[in-house]
Amino acid sequence: MSAGPTTSSRSEALRIDASRLMDRIMGLADISPIAGGGNCRLALTDEDKHGRDLVVSWMRDLDMDVSIDAVGNIIAIWNVGSGSPVMTGSHIDTVRTGGKFDGNYGVIAGLEVVETCQKNGFTPSRPLAVAVFTDEEGARFAPDMLGSLVYVGGMTTEEALDINAIDGPRLGDELVRIGYAGSAPCPGLVPHAFVELHIEQGPLLEANNVRIGAVTGVQGISWQEVTIVGQSNHAGTTPMSLRHDPTYVAAEIAVFLRKLSASYGAHQVCTVGKVDVFPNLINVVAARVTMTLDIRNTDEALLQRAEQEVSEFLKEVASSEGVSITTKKLARFEPVEFDNRVIDVIEKISISLDNTTQRMPSGAGHDAQMLARVCPAAMIFVPSVNGVSHNAAEHTDTDDLVAGANILLQSMLALCTTEFDRV
Ligand code: GLV
Ligand code: MN
Ligand code: MN
Repeated sequence: MSAGPTTSSRSEALRIDASRLMDRIMGLADISPIAGGGNCRLALTDEDKHGRDLVVSWMRDLDMDVSIDAVGNIIAIWNVGSGSPVMTGSHIDTVRTGGKFDGNYGVIAGLEVVETCQKNGFTPSRPLAVAVFTDEEGARFAPDMLGSLVYVGGMTTEEALDINAIDGPRLGDELVRIGYAGSAPCPGLVPHAFVELHIEQGPLLEANNVRIGAVTGVQGISWQEVTIVGQSNHAGTTPMSLRHDPTYVAAEIAVFLRKLSASYGAHQVCTVGKVDVFPNLINVVAARVTMTLDIRNTDEALLQRAEQEVSEFLKEVASSEGVSITTKKLARFEPVEFDNRVIDVIEKISISLDNTTQRMPSGAGHDAQMLARVCPAAMIFVPSVNGVSHNAAEHTDTDDLVAGANILLQSMLALCTTEFDRV
């Protein structure tokens, strides 16, 4: 009589169900569609609540233990095996003009990992957890990665609950309003390891004709809000020489950032993504402009230098135009390096499944960078068509989505049996 397959050869043969994965991605995208095929599910809005309810119903269908913590993070655990769980997860909030895949893909692929094991009668040696972190985008409540930051103890719950949205409401009140003010404590359970699957959101994999990125880390990010107060006046009668025009100053700042990026090289990126002009009328020199600066670099020293140069420029331009400028820090995270042991696991599995594979840093922020503070963590990237993201046209080919989910599955199972020496 021949022996049955070993546990490891059985697990290596497991493959996710492509149509179930795609059905769930499209099902979540149906919740809050926008023109052009994208989604608007800003954190803690009604749309976010509907998305959460759907994902939680899927978690319950898989008999996972679902808990909601004090900042609304959803943690679902398939309680099998022993020890701390191998966790995956991401976010389901979007920017206002988001796509179907940013964040959502990683969460849904996590559920697919659990369902694939269950349907094939395979029991991992550790629990598997799938997390939905609150407000990863930071588009409604800064900073970004807020839920995962609180989850790992990088910000107190009280501080997070007191943050106000760009449209006014307090985060804590919005959580109560949508029914996601939970009772599980933060910081939360420390996973054995964390691996996040995500679309690249940039052009590199496609340009290199490579299917899988084994992500080595995340660049540093600096967000600030700049408020420029000038002298509002009549657009027809006020001589140019007598103006104190905050809109002009905002434009100067945007141009300065573009020139600074060019002088620092390709790793320096700067963005003015939000500009609010008051009173915002054609024939009124504005009274006030509020704008956001998003400055990122993989090198912390260069990022600090860029921040310093920006700060000096703000003083110069305020004095030359006769306006006042104040700044408010919205987010500041240093560059993060992922755990080499987890990167190795992802890379080896990707290659063994016949995928072209490269190591690469992430340009976007991700929840995995917060989890990296408490456990071995890394990420898997799949290509973004035309490198487009934070845009309704965001797209990844189904074959790539399926390949990424299979690598997530095999990586999570491999991490169940990987022992890490904690230092
Ligand atoms: C998160 O999406 C970011 O802005 O990097
Ligand atoms: Mn994301
Ligand atoms: Mn995003």
